[in-house]
Amino acid sequence: MPEVVTGIAELRERLRQPRRQGDSIGLVPTMGALHAGHAALLHKARLENRLVVASIFVNPLQFDRKEDLETYPRTMDQDLLVAGACGVDLIFSPAAAELYPGEQAAFVDLPRLSAHLCGQFRPGHFQGVATVVLKLLNIVQPDRAYFGEKDAQQLAIIRRMVRDLDVPVSIVPVATVREPDGLALSSRNKLLTPAQRRIAPVLSRALSEAVRRMEAGEGSVAAIRHDVLSLFAAYPELRVEYFEIVDPETLAPVEHVNGRVLIAGAIWLGSTRLIDNIAFSTVAPR
Ligand code: PAF
Repeated sequence: MPEVVTGIAELRERLRQPRRQGDSIGLVPTMGALHAGHAALLHKARLENRLVVASIFVNPLQFDRKEDLETYPRTMDQDLLVAGACGVDLIFSPAAAELYPGEQAAFVDLPRLSAHLCGQFRPGHFQGVATVVLKLLNIVQPDRAYFGEKDAQQLAIIRRMVRDLDVPVSIVPVATVREPDGLALSSRNKLLTPAQRRIAPVLSRALSEAVRRMEAGEGSVAAIRHDVLSLFAAYPELRVEYFEIVDPETLAPVEHVNGRVLIAGAIWLGSTRLIDNIAFSTVAPR
């Protein structure tokens, strides 16, 4: 079982000696409810570092809806087993009052990158993510930090924050893990009813269909979106929040597919929101 640390001072003290002796430290920030997607991050961190720290903290700052914060799955006992099986050395699991002891006055904001995709619909979300991630990076001071490609906008924002603020850490992306029917793993999948779970893979099918159209030479984003959106129309219980084709770095929508793009979508099934994305390039990889 990994060692569990709840205090910032205690964690810094615990990391002092390994850091002094030059041990590399990998950090995997999570909000718990660990699944095979997190396990992929933890395994990669285990392979690449001497010491692996996973944080488990349901960050209130990034929830734009109170009920989402309240219903977010909390499965600490199970998480410790998953983390232990992945070879995690230390779990940092602070109470909210430890990370936010008073009113928070300093925030990290990347307004341009946050204005697109999920950010349009989740006011303050990425400010909350960037702020807590910078706090975690400052507390742990890892050599590497691991983030899933499933949260593509989050990954782009964190990469840019680290670059623009000269944070001395290497950000390591990890590929999305999927169910056999294509559904991207997410802690929120647990909240789907059996009927919603059967519909949910339409999101990854829509992404694959967009890729298929691009591979066939279709370059018009309007044409691709028109066809792909009709796939969702077969499910009246599903609401599409967005389905967009954007530049993978600026996240701004593109009109024509040329070079690298990110295809990203968000859907609602009942009160559960699911996101997914896939990268595509018209240029052959070098
Ligand atoms: O991806 C998540 O689980 C969260 O957004 C993160 C990065 C742990 C910050 O709270």
